[in-house]
Amino acid sequence: MGADKSYALEKVLIREDEIKSIVKTLAGRINEDYKGKKLIIIGVLKGAFVFLSDLVREIKSDVQIEFIKASSYGSKTISTGEVNTEYVSFSFDVAGTNLLIVDDILDTGHTLTRMMDMFREKNAASVELCVFLDKVERRQVPLTAKYTGKVIPDEFVVGYGLDFNESHRNLPYIAVVNTSKQ
Ligand code: XMP
Repeated sequence: MGADKSYALEKVLIREDEIKSIVKTLAGRINEDYKGKKLIIIGVLKGAFVFLSDLVREIKSDVQIEFIKASSYGSKTISTGEVNTEYVSFSFDVAGTNLLIVDDILDTGHTLTRMMDMFREKNAASVELCVFLDKVERRQVPLTAKYTGKVIPDEFVVGYGLDFNESHRNLPYIAVVNTSKQ
């Protein structure tokens, strides 16, 4: 697969057809849970943009879409727990709203825990989490997403919105990166 001096795309972990089926299953559950309710979906940039765009097209409820940018300080592949969040398009009052935060991957849990706490402090009626991937074994704080697409092993993955040094977000499948390949 990939052709860079310092790393390679090692194998396909989740094929495009499996991604489609995971998204449909998640959307089915969300549709059931939010029937008749107004839902505000908050995508975490940049990684969630592909998953979010597939997911929202399967949602039947009245949906408002917003984005937030979060960045962990420190090295590219290791989450440090230092999280900086930045609003991108918030022009609404969070109080009393049903929020569903959508992200590409749940790893240590620091980023999304802080984000959920922040919205709870602003008195949202409900704050839930939907992630496409979950590296359960890397968790450092007790966080479980209400909606999880697929649990994966502790390997660095790219594609379907996920990047390695800003490359590969456009792959229509999830691939494992091997950073030791020379
Ligand atoms: P937490 O706070 O849960 O952060 O550690 C989750 C964020 O970490 C990034 N992340 C990855 N990005 N491939 C990526 O492209 C991966 O395998 C990976 N694991 C974690 C990602 O930005 C996510 O939002």
